[in-house]
Amino acid sequence: MVVGKPLFSEEDIQKKVKELAEQISKDFEGQELVTIGILKGAFMFFADLVRHIKVPLTIDFIVASSYIKESTTGEVKIHYDVREEIEGKNVLLVEDIVDTGITLNYLRERFLLRSPKTLKICALLDKKERRLVDVPIDYKGFEIPNEFVVGYGLDYNNQYRNLPYIAIFKKSI
Ligand code: PRP
Repeated sequence: MVVGKPLFSEEDIQKKVKELAEQISKDFEGQELVTIGILKGAFMFFADLVRHIKVPLTIDFIVASSYIKESTTGEVKIHYDVREEIEGKNVLLVEDIVDTGITLNYLRERFLLRSPKTLKICALLDKKERRLVDVPIDYKGFEIPNEFVVGYGLDYNNQYRNLPYIAIFKKSI
């Protein structure tokens, strides 16, 4: 297995992250935000995104993993849940990639039950072709083809998350 050429360079990503943060700052001007990173995949994107958002915010995390890859049941497991109160708050869920949509749809419904004032979703990558469940993405970075990608938080067997760019992962060159 090899990591191919960057699909999105560090520079491409940082430019996009700033654009997303600017849009979010504009939309929530004069308001406060509770930002929630969906780990592990979103750790790097989340850290970069929040440092460019200009409105007052708090941060929290949820650790979730989807078992669709192994079982196709689409079960989502929560390993760690948020500690922030979200009732009546503006909540922004931050995700690295939307693939089938099962993880985000599950989390979205779970958070809606806690009555936030608003619930928005920001995802860096959208692998639209693979979608099984429709989920609204309010702030989207890039649409990508149906290829396995690693880097900038995304993994293969929990490796390559530390790469500062995103690349297609291939069985051979
Ligand atoms: C990945 C990714 C998303 C989810 C997207 O997480 O970070 O959370 O899959 O896939 P879906 O749209 O098909 O649900 P994963 O479950 O691999 O855990 P990780 O974040 O720890 O890598």
